Amino acid sequence: MSTVLITGCSRPTGFGQRTAKAFASAGHTVFATMRGVDRGRALVDWARDQKVRLEVLEHDVNDPVSNRDVVAEIVAKSGELDVLVNNVGMSSFGALETLHDAHIRDTMETNFFSAVDLTRAVLPTMRHQMGGRVLFVTSIAGLTGIPGESIYCASKFALEGLAESLAFEVERFGIHVSTVRPAFFNTGMSMDNTDASSFYETGTAYDVFNQQVVASTSDGEVAGEDPRIVAETILEAATVAAPKLRWEPGTSAPEIKAARATMSDEDWRAYVMEELGMSDWLKPAA
Ligand SMILES: NC(=O)c1ccc[n+]([C@@H]2O[C@H](COP(=O)([O-])OP(=O)(O)OC[C@H]3O[C@@H](n4cnc5c(N)ncnc54)[C@H](OP(=O)(O)O)[C@@H]3O)[C@@H](O)[C@H]2O)c1
Repeated sequence: MSTVLITGCSRPTGFGQRTAKAFASAGHTVFATMRGVDRGRALVDWARDQKVRLEVLEHDVNDPVSNRDVVAEIVAKSGELDVLVNNVGMSSFGALETLHDAHIRDTMETNFFSAVDLTRAVLPTMRHQMGGRVLFVTSIAGLTGIPGESIYCASKFALEGLAESLAFEVERFGIHVSTVRPAFFNTGMSMDNTDASSFYETGTAYDVFNQQVVASTSDGEVAGEDPRIVAETILEAATVAAPKLRWEPGTSAPEIKAARATMSDEDWRAYVMEELGMSDWLKPAA
């Protein structure tokens, strides 16, 4: 059985908390981390009732000290750290030209640099123990661009490139790297959590576009698949005997991947806009 660190476990409907439960139920020792450990009380109660090994730790992934403290605490308590699940992420939408500078930087810090820092904090332990699994929850937005999600996609493409490259470097130490690329899952991430107007300027040439992007993101989330599918995929990716680099959970992500592979960039652009009901945006501005 493994010792597992999972980030971003604050929300009962999110992938992080569901993944923590999946690992703990499978007999692993789980450290579920979040900002504000009080929000993890129900998770701790669940673990006690289920008689599984799960602890909640305070953790802000954007704080390098917090990253090192969490790793040191886990190693001190367990003597090992076998699996890291970099799950934290934040939404970003709005046409690039309209986004606030601070929001762009926050998104890259939270979605990309935090995972870089935490992974670097964990690797020495895994290298010394000659084994480990590092997982990144990226997105299908790390495979294809999405209108109005340029920065979110940039952060997830960046993680995909990082993971693929890192895999070359660490395999000889018994460390395996994977990305899990969900498409649409009903976690409430974008809509429960997000005030989109704080992301971008209004009163611009993109107002209609931005409204359509928010509406289609909301619709996609509400109609999304069950997040437990992602939790089970992460568990499988971390424990399967023959690890693989990329995982697409559920039905929508494999379908998007397959469709993308059959089309030119230009056909794909038209297809996506049609699917989102935004084809008019591709016509020349009046
Ligand atoms: N839902 C989907 O359909 C979907 C699709 C593709 C990919 N994803 C990815 O899946 C991952 C999990 O998302 P989710 O849908 O499960 O939504 P979520 O529950 O909102 O997960 C995001 C988590 O990140 C945490 N977080 C953000 N900034 C943090 C920080 N600085 N330090 C510590 N924790 C921080 C949030 O905590 P707070 O509550 O403190 O903000 C929250 O627990 C994300 O990486 C997301 O990009 C989701």
